[in-house]
Amino acid sequence: SSGPLVLGIETSCDETGVGIVRGHTLLADAVASSVEEHARFGGVVPEVASRAHLEAMVPTLERACETAGITLSDVDAVAVTSGPGLAGALLVGVAAAKALALGLEKPLYGVNHLAAHVAVDQLEHGALPDPCLAMLVSGGHSSLLRVDDVTSSVTPLGATIDDAAGEAFDKVARLLGLPFPGGPHIDRAARSGSSVAIDFPRGLSSRRDLERHRFDFSFSGLKTAVARWVQAREAAGEPVPVADVAASFQEAVCDVLTRKAVDAAVSAGIEDILVGGGVAANSRLRVLTEERAARHGIRVRVPRPGLCTDNGAMVAALGSEMVARGRTPSSLDLPADSSLPV
Ligand code: KG4
Ligand code: ZN
Repeated sequence: SSGPLVLGIETSCDETGVGIVRGHTLLADAVASSVEEHARFGGVVPEVASRAHLEAMVPTLERACETAGITLSDVDAVAVTSGPGLAGALLVGVAAAKALALGLEKPLYGVNHLAAHVAVDQLEHGALPDPCLAMLVSGGHSSLLRVDDVTSSVTPLGATIDDAAGEAFDKVARLLGLPFPGGPHIDRAARSGSSVAIDFPRGLSSRRDLERHRFDFSFSGLKTAVARWVQAREAAGEPVPVADVAASFQEAVCDVLTRKAVDAAVSAGIEDILVGGGVAANSRLRVLTEERAARHGIRVRVPRPGLCTDNGAMVAALGSEMVARGRTPSSLDLPADSSLPV
């Protein structure tokens, strides 16, 4: 494989990631996670995340270079997530990337975290189809994006108006006494439950809501409905059927996500849907997206789970694309922007 060697740094949430790519070829993807330090709080604690990034940055960088069999002086460009994300966490990555770019005298590329979640698929399935519809679902975001050019033209069509999909999974898991992060545990528990056991609400799906929020999501009402249902059971002294609650909740989330993603693609005449973010690992979401997309002749691309969750490879992948498309590098006063729009 040819092309410049691009190093990518990701620190927007609780994963310290350093990825190295050449073109669409992944050479290293080192990730250090502080997820266990947050587990007892039931969610990511920003201050804890920042400190963990600071401690993990240099070892993760060294591990990535070692895996790729390169030294830092081989790097042709440095890419970094400049937002959106936790402000203090982003600053650690941005500062590290600036130091590298300055020391190596190589260009710096600040990239958008959401666009990077899209670009990462090129490492697995090759060049992105233009346009494509991206459904990004994680603990921090839930968005539908129209992607015409991942380096310069990504248009938000809709997003959650309250909780992110992964956040809903995590909160419901907590209600059910499952560990954090709860998504994989709900996914597993749901396999032995019935998805039609309990009729949980589908957020923003009434005809009236669809008029204003056709491609938006809401998961906080669903979370509250699950909490009420579980509490009523407990108050009546009856056991909570964890598997049925998990399966019915998961179905409510996946039903709305896939319905709206396919609707967005069909209405825009887009023939490819890309799913990304940690929740893309959900087994039901994968199956239902495939099923509904296939009815309209739409193809679905989902990167492997390790590339769906936050990592440095996605940042390197987008940086590599920016170099390939001749985008202007960022200046060394690149800010970290916690609410950076796509
Ligand atoms: O992308 P990610 O690693 O980090 C960010 O939040 O940005 O996503 C983590 C989220 C968590 O909320 C986790 O519960 C969820 O992804 N998740 C899942 C599954 N695996 C991870 N949710 C549902 N089903 C899964 N199998
Ligand atoms: Zn993410």
